[in-house]
Amino acid sequence: MQKAVLITGASTGIGRHLAHHLAERDHLVYAAVRKEADLAALSSIKNIIPIKLDVTNLEQIETAVTFITRQGAGLYGLVNNAGLGGLGYFTTWSEAEFQQIFDVNVAGPWRMSNAFLDLLLAAQGRIVNIGSQGGTVSKKLYGPYTMTKHALEAYTVALNEELRPFHVHVSIVQPGGIVSNIGANGMPDMVARLRRARPPFADEAQQILASFDNPPAPPDPEAPESETNRKPSSPEIVATAVYHALFADKPKLRYMVGTQWEGDRVINMLIQRLLDANDSPVHNYSRAELVALLDQHLQARNEAAAPSG
Ligand SMILES: NC(=O)c1ccc[n+]([C@@H]2O[C@H](COP(=O)([O-])OP(=O)(O)OC[C@H]3O[C@@H](n4cnc5c(N)ncnc54)[C@H](OP(=O)(O)O)[C@@H]3O)[C@@H](O)[C@H]2O)c1
Repeated sequence: MQKAVLITGASTGIGRHLAHHLAERDHLVYAAVRKEADLAALSSIKNIIPIKLDVTNLEQIETAVTFITRQGAGLYGLVNNAGLGGLGYFTTWSEAEFQQIFDVNVAGPWRMSNAFLDLLLAAQGRIVNIGSQGGTVSKKLYGPYTMTKHALEAYTVALNEELRPFHVHVSIVQPGGIVSNIGANGMPDMVARLRRARPPFADEAQQILASFDNPPAPPDPEAPESETNRKPSSPEIVATAVYHALFADKPKLRYMVGTQWEGDRVINMLIQRLLDANDSPVHNYSRAELVALLDQHLQARNEAAAPSG
């Protein structure tokens, strides 16, 4: 048996896949789920111990801390994976829905990392937050979800700085579209929000609702990926990145994973953001200075990644 790792949201999708990925490699997995049926389904799998845990429920979190402490194997890794999706025009989100997505996607990782910190410090372990490319790219209808993932990005950077001196490393994995239940799970609320849309959004919302009656053809594997021909990836690419963040000697701060089309979109967005920041009469670089700066950063990164000794 190698290391003990707790994964939140392990019932389906990325969390479930990751639980198997780690258990198959002989790690002890505490797979946190909310429903009795999921506890039962996971209980017969070698190296997996299912625990009942809703990341918004402090009592369940405290019970899980006591349980894992008593198991005696410590806790080396915490993967904050549980998350809610959800689309909709800002004005159609209710106060309760807006608070809930932040409660799960942002306060959840914060609560969990705080609760398990003593065990992680004792193990000199790792925290891995499952962010999203939506932590960099934001767009119409994705507002609240991408807000939570931007917040998780900031949380990861600051928490990593706080914990690095104590030998706990914090990373964020930022997937593009991944095959999971997130779309289906978010569907009923999304439909309700689209139905609530008022002018000037009502017509477009009706068109989107009507399009659900004639779902688009599945992605054409021959045609290149595009906004209308998305090609979600296997959760395996997320599991591989999480594994590196948990166990590599030199874990990275960020792991951007997804397709080439998605990667192009993120990098182009970041270049736009760089140029926005540079577009100031007070602080700005010339093109030549920007290129030189990029070379300096690339060199520093290559040196940091090189094997030591
Ligand atoms: N799939 C993608 O395209 C994609 C892309 C980028 C990032 N992500 C991120 O990946 C993570 C996993 O999502 P997924 O795609 O695997 O979706 P998923 O299949 O819908 O899984 C979400 C998991 O989160 C759990 N969950 C929801 N609310 C919870 C709460 N209050 N407490 C504890 N667990 C809760 C769900 O449990 P129940 O089964 O009990 O509801 C489920 O296990 C999320 O953080 C998501 O934002 C996904």
